[in-house]
Amino acid sequence: MKFSSTACAALAAVGYLTVATEPAHAEQPARQASDIRALSRTDLQNLRFALDQIKEGRQIFRYDTFGDETFWGDALRLHTAIAGSANGGVGAGLSPKAALATGLKVDVDALPDRLRNDLQKGRVDLDSPATTLALLKLDAVVGVRGFFDDSGNRLRSVGITCALCHSTVDDSFAPGIGRRLDGWAARDLNVGEIIALAPNVQPLVDLLRIAVPSIDAATVRTVLRSWGPGKFDAELLMDGKATRPDGKPAATLLPPAFGLAGVNLHTWTGWGSVTHWNGFVASLEMQGQGTFFDPRLNDSVKFPIAAEAGFGDVRRTPDLITARLGPLHVYQLSLPAPRPPRGSFDAAAAQRGKTLFEGRADCARCHVPPLFTEPGWNMHEPEEIGIDSFQAERSPDERYRTAPLKGLWTHCKGGYYHDGRFARLEDVIDHYDRVLSLALSADEKADLVQYLKSL
Ligand code: HEC
Ligand code: HEC
Repeated sequence: MKFSSTACAALAAVGYLTVATEPAHAEQPARQASDIRALSRTDLQNLRFALDQIKEGRQIFRYDTFGDETFWGDALRLHTAIAGSANGGVGAGLSPKAALATGLKVDVDALPDRLRNDLQKGRVDLDSPATTLALLKLDAVVGVRGFFDDSGNRLRSVGITCALCHSTVDDSFAPGIGRRLDGWAARDLNVGEIIALAPNVQPLVDLLRIAVPSIDAATVRTVLRSWGPGKFDAELLMDGKATRPDGKPAATLLPPAFGLAGVNLHTWTGWGSVTHWNGFVASLEMQGQGTFFDPRLNDSVKFPIAAEAGFGDVRRTPDLITARLGPLHVYQLSLPAPRPPRGSFDAAAAQRGKTLFEGRADCARCHVPPLFTEPGWNMHEPEEIGIDSFQAERSPDERYRTAPLKGLWTHCKGGYYHDGRFARLEDVIDHYDRVLSLALSADEKADLVQYLKSL
C-alpha cells in the first residue's frame, strides 16, 4: 500500500476523531480505582495539587491575556478593526467568514445549543462583524478575548492568549469550528495578516526604528503580511531583522506545545526551558504585564531593540504573569503528543524505517527515542545539520535545537525545519542523505518517511 503526504490537514482532524472515539479499555476504570486506593494521604494530596495545577494551567493557556489588551486593543486599536464602523469601530470589520479565512478557529463547546442549531440551518449571518462580536462575547474565538463595555454591546478592547498560536480545533462541527485541540500548532493561522489589520501600528514602528531608523507604518504592514499562514517572528522585536539574507521573510513556523515533558531546551533555537519561554512570550511577544529577566537580551549588537528597550529586565506592575507560570508550565508538560490515526501510515514500512532511524541513517544520535531530542543540551551548530546560520544567530547560543519529532503528523502543513524550507518529509530525508552521506536507497527513504509519520 502507498501513502501520500497530501490531504495533510484532513488527516490530522480525522485522526484526532478516531483516536478520541476509540473505546476505552474495559479494565481501565477498575484498575484506576485500585491504583487510587493504593495511594497514601500524601500521594493523594500531591495528586490533587497536580490536577489543580493542570486545570488552572489549562484556563490560563486558553483564556489568559496577562493584561495584553492594553497593547493589542488600547494601543494598536485592533478591536476597532474587528468591530467595523457599523459597530462603533472603523472600516468594514472582521466577519466570521473573514476570520475563519485568516485561520482563526471557533470553539464549538462555547456555543449555546440554539446558536449551533441556527448555524447548522444556515440562519447565522457569517458575513456580519456583529456575529464575530457575539462569538467573542461567548469566548468562542480560540485565542482571542474580547472586552466589552458595561452595556455589553461595544467592544472596548481585545487581547490574545497562548491558544491563538498553539491550539486548533478538530473541525467536528464545520471547517474551522470544533472542539479545542490544545498544544497543536496553528498552521492555518495568518498571525501577520491579523496584526496588520490594526489601525495603529505605530508602537511597532517605534520599536523597530531602534534598529531600522527609516522604517514606517506601510513597511511594517508589508513585513507582517509577508509571513503567511502558520508563521510568526518571535525575534523581530528583539533584533529588527525582517528578512533572511536571501530576501525571504525571517518568520518561523509555529511549533506545537505538546509532548514537551523531558525536553530540555525549547524554541527552534533553544532559547531556554518551557517556563523561560512562557515568561518571555507573555511579557515580550504578547505584551502582557509582569516581570521578565534575561540579561542575554542586553547584547546590543545581537538584539539592538531589546537592549535599548530594556527587555532584559522588565518589571511591569501589577505582575499578572509570574504567579501563572507554574500552572501554565505544568499544563503544557501534561499534554501528550497525539498518536497518529490508524491507517495513516504503512506499519511494516514504518518498522523497517525505525531500524534505519536507530541504525544506519544515524537519526537517533540526535533524535533520541522516546524523546526524539537529546537528553541534555539538545543543541547543534548549523553545519551539523547542513543549513545556514541566520536563524541560529538570532538567539543567545547560535545553534539549532534538535526538534522533538513526536506528533509530527499534526503539523505537516507549512513544511519542516524552523522556516518550513522542506515542503515534504521526503525532502527532509533527501537533505540528510546528502549532508550525512548516508547513501540511502529509494526504498529506505520511503521507509524512513513512514516511520516519521508513525511518531
Ligand atoms: C503569536 C503567536 C504565538 C503566541 C500567542 C504564543 N506563541 Fe509560543 N511560539 C510561537 C512561535 C513562533 C514559537 C517559536 C519561536 C522560535 O523558535 O523563535 C513559539 C514557541 C513556543 C514554545 C516552544 C515549543 C518547542 O518546540 O520547544 C512553547 C513551549 C510555547 N511557544 C508556549 C507558548 C505559551 C505558553 C504561550 C502563551 C504564554 C505562547 N507560546 C504564545 C508563537 C506564539
Ligand atoms: C546532528 C543532529 C541531527 C541528526 C543526526 C538528525 N537530526 Fe533531524 N533535526 C536536528 C535539528 C537540530 C533539527 C531542527 C532544524 C531546524 O530547526 O531548522 C532537526 C529537525 C528535523 C525534522 C523537522 C522537524 C520539524 O518539526 O520540522 C525532521 C523531520 C528530522 N529532523 C528528521 C531526522 C531524520 C529522519 C534524521 C536521520 C536521517 C535526522 N533528523 C538526523 C538534528 C539532527
